[in-house]
Amino acid sequence: MAQAKPQERDRPLLEARGVVYRYGAISALRGVDLHVDRGEAVCVIGPNGAGKTTLARVAGGLYRPAEGALLVDGEPLSRRPHEAVARGVGSVLEGRHLFVEQTVRTNLELGCYHGKVPKAVVAERLEKVMELFPVLRKRAGQQTSTMSGGEQQMVAVGRALMAEPEVLILDEPSMGLSPKITGEVFDALAALRAGGLSILLIEQNAPLAFELADRGYLLRQGSVVVEGSIEELTGDDVVRSAYLGA
Ligand SMILES: Nc1ncnc2c1ncn2[C@@H]1O[C@H](COP(=O)(O)OP(=O)(O)O)[C@@H](O)[C@H]1O
Ligand SMILES: [Mg+2]
Repeated sequence: MAQAKPQERDRPLLEARGVVYRYGAISALRGVDLHVDRGEAVCVIGPNGAGKTTLARVAGGLYRPAEGALLVDGEPLSRRPHEAVARGVGSVLEGRHLFVEQTVRTNLELGCYHGKVPKAVVAERLEKVMELFPVLRKRAGQQTSTMSGGEQQMVAVGRALMAEPEVLILDEPSMGLSPKITGEVFDALAALRAGGLSILLIEQNAPLAFELADRGYLLRQGSVVVEGSIEELTGDDVVRSAYLGA
């Protein structure tokens, strides 16, 4: 990849600016400011109903803000479907949205669907995903519904990676997974991060999120109530009492 020009390096890869999102009369996001810089792993923690999934969907370009803007590399997203993916924003959604009757390989290949990706490139990307998650190589020809929840989460992450995102958004990747599988998924995320991928991790499990992230936000009732480095968050009384059992 070409070196980013200085001004490109200075502006966030992904930025929510005053984002408001409503479901009818319910305001799920009430003016959220958040950004992810190149090479950063940023987490968003918060209780049930805080607006985390809504934020993940806005950040991934699936929902359009009612007010404010979502900027990718300083430019707002248009209404074109799949634009976010084409502009380097990958999402791993809650519920995963896999085609469970299809094979693992097909699900992964579908991650390239938005563009005309040459077959050889698809094969290369598939190889990288299978290196990251060796179990997917073993199960490539298997129907996805036969995989465990953790393995399906790996398929979902792998599928997002097939589009070669610059930033990966994950909505509660640990949800419903055993500690062992969660560890494997998070080890893979740490490896991706070390390889330069930027990450926006939405996660209720704060200790887990804090292991991966450089920085974070606490979202509550649709607003950011605390933000800072992991050190700052760990020292914050609200965060400590509600999320770290301190
Ligand atoms: N499809 C929907 N229709 C109406 N209200 C919704 C919908 N999805 C979420 N909400 C509401 O929006 C708020 C934020 O939800 P959500 O983003 O799912 O929070 P979280 O992921 O933090 O649990 C909650 O009050 C929730 O009830
Ligand atoms: Mg949620």
